[in-house]
Amino acid sequence: MGLFSDFFKKPKTDAVFEVKSPNGRIIMTFMLDKGQIFYFVRKDDKVIIRKSRLGLMLKDTSPLADGLSLVRAYSRALDDTWRAQWGEQHVIRNNYNETAIYLEEVEKPARLITIRIRTYDDGFAFRYEIPAQPEMERMIISDELTEFAIDGNSRSWSIPAYQPDRYEYDYIEHPVSALTESVHTPLTIQTSTGTWLAIHEAALYNYGGMTLKMNGPALRTDITPLSDGMRAYVELPFSTPWRMVIVGESELDLTTSRMMLNLNDPPREDFSWVEPKKFMGIWWAMYVGEWTWAPGERHGATTEHAMQYIDSCKNLGISGLLIEGWNDGWEGDWLENGVSNKFMEPTPDFDMQIVADYGRANGVELIGHHETVGFIDNYEAQLDDAYKYMKKYGIRYIKSGYAGSKMTINGRREYHHSQLGVLHYQRALELAAKYQIMLDVHEPIKSTGIERTWPNLMTREGARGQEYEGGALKPSHACYLPYTRLLAGGMDYTSGILDVTNFSKRMATTIIRQLAYYVTIYSSMQMAADRPQFYEVEYPDLWEFIRDVPLSWERTVPLLGEIGKFYVVARQEWDGEDWYIGGVTNEEGRKVELYLDFLDPQTNYVAKIYRDSSDAHYRDHQTGYEIEEKVLRHGDRLEMYMAPGGGFVIKLHKQ
Ligand code: NOJ
Ligand code: CA
Repeated sequence: MGLFSDFFKKPKTDAVFEVKSPNGRIIMTFMLDKGQIFYFVRKDDKVIIRKSRLGLMLKDTSPLADGLSLVRAYSRALDDTWRAQWGEQHVIRNNYNETAIYLEEVEKPARLITIRIRTYDDGFAFRYEIPAQPEMERMIISDELTEFAIDGNSRSWSIPAYQPDRYEYDYIEHPVSALTESVHTPLTIQTSTGTWLAIHEAALYNYGGMTLKMNGPALRTDITPLSDGMRAYVELPFSTPWRMVIVGESELDLTTSRMMLNLNDPPREDFSWVEPKKFMGIWWAMYVGEWTWAPGERHGATTEHAMQYIDSCKNLGISGLLIEGWNDGWEGDWLENGVSNKFMEPTPDFDMQIVADYGRANGVELIGHHETVGFIDNYEAQLDDAYKYMKKYGIRYIKSGYAGSKMTINGRREYHHSQLGVLHYQRALELAAKYQIMLDVHEPIKSTGIERTWPNLMTREGARGQEYEGGALKPSHACYLPYTRLLAGGMDYTSGILDVTNFSKRMATTIIRQLAYYVTIYSSMQMAADRPQFYEVEYPDLWEFIRDVPLSWERTVPLLGEIGKFYVVARQEWDGEDWYIGGVTNEEGRKVELYLDFLDPQTNYVAKIYRDSSDAHYRDHQTGYEIEEKVLRHGDRLEMYMAPGGGFVIKLHKQ
């Protein structure tokens, strides 16, 4: 590692630092080249990111991008393990090499900027840090120059940014050179030399979310702008989010990286009150048109319905119930009327006290619902009282919603991922923590791993979920998610719809695949999203699985998969011995061979296998399934069939 010598008077405007991953295979090279800043990255003998520009553009003043000289560089290493509060992996290793390069402008005002780089065995990350300094107290960032120069012929999978349905789009494959319109991250790429990358960011606070698009020959950051075109207004000292790239040999490799969480800080307060939760909801009945959110003859959220659902929860052994449409604001065009939603006023036919008391008496917690429709000014004016209101009724979980193509903040229309949007989600989260409230955020900003610091951020939507079934979800969608959206953490996919053939909301899945989602799509809050009769009366044999499947995992071992085609994963119960294996496939049926070499060699497992029948099909025979029990051991080989649009799930119980 280069060390700067203070003896030279002449500013040093050229310098090179290599930051090698702990195993030495990934090398990020930082270059100060005639006062400009660049980096490139190699893995083994391949260049995976070519020379790429770094820097920040500032409003009304010169950029922090050139005319720079080296002050000093400082390197350190860390090899640590930490225990998650919930998640896909209980014990996580954080092992990196770090170099911080301190730079100063050659000319007055001689402003300071630091580039901090970390390399891991599964990727690399860097961020800009602007220290407090006499000549500059605040800055207005008008653009970020960060580039990722990747061969234009590389394949990539993404969803478009700046669209009305936010993050809820189909993943589409493009050559990198065709990304001329901004796309969201994680952006998954297979380079032309075969390496897999996922470009994303970690620890997004007080800044616009990063999108990416081609700018000349390189992909460049396009930070979500505010309505005045600026990207962020910040006081110093300030650090940008980490720009991170997961690097793997296959798309499955990407899924095992915990780098995003590692780049976030541990919690600063006690979150031992946080608990994963499974819940049912007064919800899908609205989607199939039986009930409505708005009051009226078919209103879903009535006292009577809520009490019936609580009875069902008790019967079924599930301890949470979401109630949507309980408050004032759903009448008429709710997307427009949300401007005056009231979060402390139940509809006349819903008695919160009676329902909460009945729930408590029956061991069922209510999951509160706040649909903001993106009217942040209205929501924030009530937020503190709205949380207090929930707590008064013993409600510890809130599902929030931010439908609407943009947000109204300070009277202006802003993107969800703008700095002002990011600040709102953070305020809502921190205030929730103060009241010991756990959140399931729909229409969220993307996860950047802040749930490590704020474990009460239990889950998010942030992709097309099952509300898009009934026409707009393709079987391939859930085969893209593990390699794209889910690299950024858990998702509330609203799994477990067993009424798959419903005429008004027909699922493009087999019934068994609905069980598989609980294993293939991680979430620390999972919904059993269908109406109770489908669990109590129609499919009690399948309910047993939904009831028992864990919400946190000791270990996650991806077994097989190909982006957009299929995904098979094994997960071991948190603090337990049992294993679960889940698989999903796209429109094509397929056989997969599983090698059970991750099981404990000393023991037998009683396996309960839930699979599609050989004639099942997502289009015309969704309900064909079989359940089989057998004993399996370490080293066994198992052949599993997944029907078109189908899947499978296996519970392995240690004897
Ligand atoms: C969209 C959310 O994703 C969905 O779960 C919710 O039911 C509706 N908004 C209404 O709030
Ligand atoms: Ca949604």
